Amino acid sequence: MHIITSPMALKDLVTQWHQQGERIGLTPTMGALHDGHLALIRALTGKASRKIVTLFVNPTQFNNAEDFHLYPRQHEADIALLQKTGEVDALYIPHKEDMYPQGFSTKIFVSQFDTMLCGADRPGHFEGVATVVTKLFLQTQADIAAFGEKDYQQLCLIRRLVKDLNIPVEILAVPTQREVDGLALSSRNRRLTPEQRRQATQLPAALHACLIDLRHQHPLSEALARCHTTLEKAGFIVHYLDLRKEETLEIAEKAEPHTRLFVAASLGNIRLIDNMPIF
Ligand code: PAF
Repeated sequence: MHIITSPMALKDLVTQWHQQGERIGLTPTMGALHDGHLALIRALTGKASRKIVTLFVNPTQFNNAEDFHLYPRQHEADIALLQKTGEVDALYIPHKEDMYPQGFSTKIFVSQFDTMLCGADRPGHFEGVATVVTKLFLQTQADIAAFGEKDYQQLCLIRRLVKDLNIPVEILAVPTQREVDGLALSSRNRRLTPEQRRQATQLPAALHACLIDLRHQHPLSEALARCHTTLEKAGFIVHYLDLRKEETLEIAEKAEPHTRLFVAASLGNIRLIDNMPIF
């Protein structure tokens, strides 16, 4: 596995690969890798002949300095894990100065998805994501890139971005990976105390119960209210709990195919998100 830190070295490698007719698959990450990331990498098998993983804790997508500083960083362990998979051809770990050179003043704002759901209480977050992902697409010249459905709003935003800017990269959506107790895999889970980790299982459980209610034709407002109460009783502060249309993320009036439940809720200062399709 090549370990590359400069955009020029990356450019040389990917240009050579393209000249050789290779198809480049990208998995962008912020490190603290877990099985969810490995599932993204695996999902590219058969769809790309060369795989690049990027590792960059992107400062512009953290609207909270403490969250940025507390974000788990374990580069050595990440490198060892990727090497062990034997599936990754290159790991790109750019320097902050290359991603955000002095005087950096360009931002990508995807208006359709930027301010709803997580965008509402994380101002600037999606601008930071859209900007860094655009840079990573340009630098890696990826033909296909894998993103997890766990960050569903991010996935929608990136699909929009690629379409709007005619970026020639295919977006591959990969289903959420979960712990055996249902908790969606996330690098943030490591910050949960043992007590919070126990409480956290209530998030997918409550969402799943709500989904069952809706499949059994329970009125939407009642099902959502019950789920909200369950989460609050379990110790969560609920930021949003909505049924939305999968493509546009507009509020859905009723449970039907292509609608999804979306939740963001915090335990202490740890914010967790999840989503589940109704059918
Ligand atoms: O999903 C993530 O880990 C990040 O938002 C991403 C896509 C790597 C951009 O920094």
